[in-house]
Amino acid sequence: MPRTEAVVFDLYGTLYDVHSVARECDACHPGRGMEFSMLWRQKQLEYTWLRSLMGQYIPFEQATRDALVYTCRALKVDPDPATLASLCDAYLKLAPYPDVPDVLRRLNALGLPLAILSNGSVFSIASVVDASGLRSHFSHLLSVEAVRVYKPDFRVYRLACEQLGVPADRILFVSSNAWDAAGAYHFGFDACWVNRDGRTFDELGAAPRVIGGLDELPVLSAKNKP
Ligand code: 2OP
Repeated sequence: MPRTEAVVFDLYGTLYDVHSVARECDACHPGRGMEFSMLWRQKQLEYTWLRSLMGQYIPFEQATRDALVYTCRALKVDPDPATLASLCDAYLKLAPYPDVPDVLRRLNALGLPLAILSNGSVFSIASVVDASGLRSHFSHLLSVEAVRVYKPDFRVYRLACEQLGVPADRILFVSSNAWDAAGAYHFGFDACWVNRDGRTFDELGAAPRVIGGLDELPVLSAKNKP
């Protein structure tokens, strides 16, 4: 396996917990915040994939808001403008997973460029990263906005090679989203699926590395240090 020259992370669900909004969701749907948050995330993903297939790119914030309107309607909650605004705002301040700050520090100490490559817009990515105070760890924050199509389209992954100036097989791409790890694997990245909660990998013809947490990243183990 070629040496790792850069590490590229997915954002939503990998570095940041999309269900950290469940508490705010609970306020508008008492006792069912997690159910609400899960449907919201599922629809958000579906809308990005469907919009890509339709050739109808919309910014991630709009896909997120559209998915929220759907979720409210499906769960019989009034999608009033104040509720939509406060939940969409909470999505700009997602919490990082507890292991993230320490792992980013350890990766920085190795001298590797670190990037985020996300379906989020430039604004969404910057908002989430800044709200958590983690911006200084990254050399690049890369948004699909540049190519107006969503992951797992190969043009998004290609953007990372172009912007970092690193060939695909020297990029360690890290995602907790199985579909994203599969897309990255097919593109040619050294793809790594972070399976924090014992899920089953999707049947998508891909075989990325599998780790149980970010502290198991291959570049952090002594024998794989760059
Ligand atoms: C991302 O951050 C949506 O998790 C996906 O690109």
